[in-house]
Amino acid sequence: MGFPILPFHEIGGHAQIDPDVILGYRYPGDSEPTKIGDHAIIRSGSIIYANTTIGNRFQCGHQVLIRGEISIGHRCVVHHKCTLEGRLRMGNGVKIMAHVYVPSRTTIGDMVFIGPGTTFLNAKYPMRQDGVQGATIEDGVTIGGGVTICPGVTIGKGSFIGAGTLVNKDVPPNVLAFGVPVQFRPMPESLAGGNLPEQLLPQTDLFGAHHDDTWKDDYPFNS
Ligand SMILES: CC(C)(COP(=O)(O)OP(=O)(O)OC[C@H]1O[C@@H](n2cnc3c(N)ncnc32)[C@H](O)[C@@H]1OP(=O)(O)O)[C@@H](O)C(=O)NCCC(=O)NCCS
Repeated sequence: MGFPILPFHEIGGHAQIDPDVILGYRYPGDSEPTKIGDHAIIRSGSIIYANTTIGNRFQCGHQVLIRGEISIGHRCVVHHKCTLEGRLRMGNGVKIMAHVYVPSRTTIGDMVFIGPGTTFLNAKYPMRQDGVQGATIEDGVTIGGGVTICPGVTIGKGSFIGAGTLVNKDVPPNVLAFGVPVQFRPMPESLAGGNLPEQLLPQTDLFGAHHDDTWKDDYPFNS
């Protein structure tokens, strides 16, 4: 069997795609090519499956795996060695640091930051009961490094999750949350302004933001 090795992707202008990237990886039941907008940067070792749609100014580190039926908005960054399983949605201006695992059925809003090594889960009783339920991360949330987010929880708009937190219940909007298991505090004044577009949106090089003011043309996002 096997699929014919034909290009199965559509990509916009000004793309920087390393030689050993696979775009439009075929799988049984796929129907649409991978579609990626303008100004993409996709680094070596990354694989993006068919039936995935990604907006403009997408940036992806090395050895990132993005599986099928995923929708990703504009100006999103996925750092090296992240895995995004199939069937998930992500808004605009989302930054995911290295070694993050996102399973199917997860929903991530606009302007969300996810720290390194964070793990999302989608099955509460694996191998004992049927069914998966992804987490929902609302707009403007910051999630620190090494956080575990349990199946089906919602993190409310604008909240900030401290490093190493176990998020095992819903988090209200605009709180500071941390601890194992998670506890909530009022948002301190110093963190109350929400995620800064000048921090989240410029495309970056190896050691941080390079000069990129083009985000001002896109922000605030229309969709
Ligand atoms: C939660 C956080 C925002 C709190 O910062 P802060 O308001 O400056 O708080 P402080 O460092 O003054 O700590 C206040 C108290 O909370 C505790 N605390 C701080 N962060 C904590 C965390 N993540 N989990 C558990 N307890 C924490 C401190 O031990 C301290 O307790 P104490 O009063 O009993 O001594 C910060 O510690 C944090 O986790 N930031 C996220 C960092 C991150 O993951 N970045 C990812 C990108 S690299």
